[in-house]
Amino acid sequence: MKPRVVPSILSADFANLEAAVRLMEDAGADWIHIDVMDGHFVPNLTVGLPVVRRIRQVTDRHLDVHLMISNPDSMAVEYAKAGADSVLVHFEATTHLHEILSAIRRAGAWAGIALNPHTSVNVLEEILPFCDYILIMSVNPGFGGQEFISTSFEKVRKLVRLIQTRGLNRVRIEIDGGIGPHNSAEAVAAGVYLLVSGSAIFGSSDPAGTFRQMRASAESAAVIT
Ligand code: DX5
Ligand code: ZN
Repeated sequence: MKPRVVPSILSADFANLEAAVRLMEDAGADWIHIDVMDGHFVPNLTVGLPVVRRIRQVTDRHLDVHLMISNPDSMAVEYAKAGADSVLVHFEATTHLHEILSAIRRAGAWAGIALNPHTSVNVLEEILPFCDYILIMSVNPGFGGQEFISTSFEKVRKLVRLIQTRGLNRVRIEIDGGIGPHNSAEAVAAGVYLLVSGSAIFGSSDPAGTFRQMRASAESAAVIT
């Protein structure tokens, strides 16, 4: 299966998100990543349900919603109902993870767990069968444009081994933070399927070109491995 580059609109122009989505559609993006931050689980504050609903109205691409919010227990399913095609909740923010994932799936979306850099993949052992994908955070969540944490690909490889041991090869791996043209191939070689990228794409002088450069680099690594 071909890896996907997933533009994060966190680094796009918030006064014109539709244009950013359109730009990525035209570049060939199948997935768009939306970062929901509550100013509590992470210091930063971004967008919520109304913006997800509105973006849903202007694109048919897969909307990937990353919830960086405290107590997502009751709200996560609302994002699926608002039009998200996949919803990520943070392991560190939840109490009844199995219940949340089941509710997201019942609403028709992929259900995923995001792990902060300090959280071991071993915590996933019991919950993995109930997930569609896992997000490895390769920066501390909250802000775009941070430096990639160097041990993150080793963590991805550990997760690949856990997934294989459990015979759950359908569970996909996503990475988020400090991903750009320079490390896309390495990410895919480690086992990543979904490469989230914000500032590398939207901060470049040619966002569409950078997206395509990353996709080419990711796909070439997928052929080799
Ligand atoms: C950070 C967000 C990311 C962010 C990544 O907390 O979860 O999705 O957009 O930004 P870059 O690609 O700039 O590291
Ligand atoms: Zn994110």
